[in-house]
Amino acid sequence: MKKPFLRALNGETVSPTPLWLMRQAGRYLPEYMKIRKTARNFLDFCYTPDLAVEVTLQPLRRYGFDAAILFSDILVIPDALGQDVSFLPGEGPQLDPIRDLSGLEKLNLQDLHEHLSPVYEVLTRLSGSLPKETALIGFCGAPWTVATYMVEGKGSKDYAATRSWAYRAPKEFSRLIDLLIEATSAYLIEQVAHGAEALQIFDSWAGILPEMEFHRWVIDPTIEIVRRVKAACPGVPIIGFPRGAGVLYRDFVAKTGVDAVSLDSSVPLKWARDQLQPHCTVQGNMDNFLLVAGGEAMDREARRIVDILGSGPFVFNLGHGIVPQTPPEHVTRLVDVVRGAETVGSGG
Ligand code: CP3
Repeated sequence: MKKPFLRALNGETVSPTPLWLMRQAGRYLPEYMKIRKTARNFLDFCYTPDLAVEVTLQPLRRYGFDAAILFSDILVIPDALGQDVSFLPGEGPQLDPIRDLSGLEKLNLQDLHEHLSPVYEVLTRLSGSLPKETALIGFCGAPWTVATYMVEGKGSKDYAATRSWAYRAPKEFSRLIDLLIEATSAYLIEQVAHGAEALQIFDSWAGILPEMEFHRWVIDPTIEIVRRVKAACPGVPIIGFPRGAGVLYRDFVAKTGVDAVSLDSSVPLKWARDQLQPHCTVQGNMDNFLLVAGGEAMDREARRIVDILGSGPFVFNLGHGIVPQTPPEHVTRLVDVVRGAETVGSGG
């Protein structure tokens, strides 16, 4: 296993620190905006292999990251299950909300792989066209986070409908989560079959749940997905991202079986080094608005992160995805700083 990113996920301390950035393809890049205009809508864009392959490669050409991430979205799963999903320009995702068992009855797994076959084709094509040091990451949304969009019908500030359903009728709500475990595991296994070399599970809204519910709706479904994927694809490294989990990151790492954990920007570096890094590779966690600001503040924090986490198994990333107002030249600078930073105690 030679690719630096995969070596880091395998528990090695790698210097210089491997890096990629969440949402490294996207609206901050003028070349993305240009090609984005050619698609009718965002889901069509994701399902058109020529376009999705091209936008996956755009940030690699500019920045030479250590990994490419499949260009797609976490909401292709509800779409493939038969829920009505659309992306309105400037408004984010819109779904026909599911609030009860009768809503669940409209969903099924029958056409899952057929529906997602363009995504698999994107992976096949990418795996034949990446530089040999660059790894290919597949991904999915975690059941809890995907469920919030399916139940609310859109992004939300408080996830009122989802939390109310999960707390009021957990047995009923678990039917939705179980369906998502089933679909997501099958989806990830197929991604690996088509060339994904590592997988990331995005649980962007994990942090809104109290302790017991975090165990039930974040940790337990992740345990099951990791178990199924590892049984079918032994050796494929899995990164978990329970964003906002706070001290519960420790339970997540201890219980789920992930190889690596992606840290949001609120996680203190020395705490992560002492509490998490002995158990798995850590990834993160620069504030995405430091990348907007750039300058000395960004350089200083990027060096501090590499300094504290770079002497163990580590992958540099942001705490959350790149935002559209990010100047592309700040990314160039960040890559230079991370690649040039000394890693303390690594012996090289
Ligand atoms: O990281 C990458 O470069 C790979 C591509 C990727 C996208 N979405 C492309 C995208 C990945 C990994 C995602 C994951 C995703 N999608 C998450 C989890 C990570 C996170 O950010 O918390 C979530 C919650 C979604 C759902 C989603 N997709 C929302 C809420 C939105 C609208 C907000 C926005 O940023 O526009 C999207 C749309 C989306 N997904 C875009 C991109 C590039 C922008 C769409 C466009 O170009 O019009």
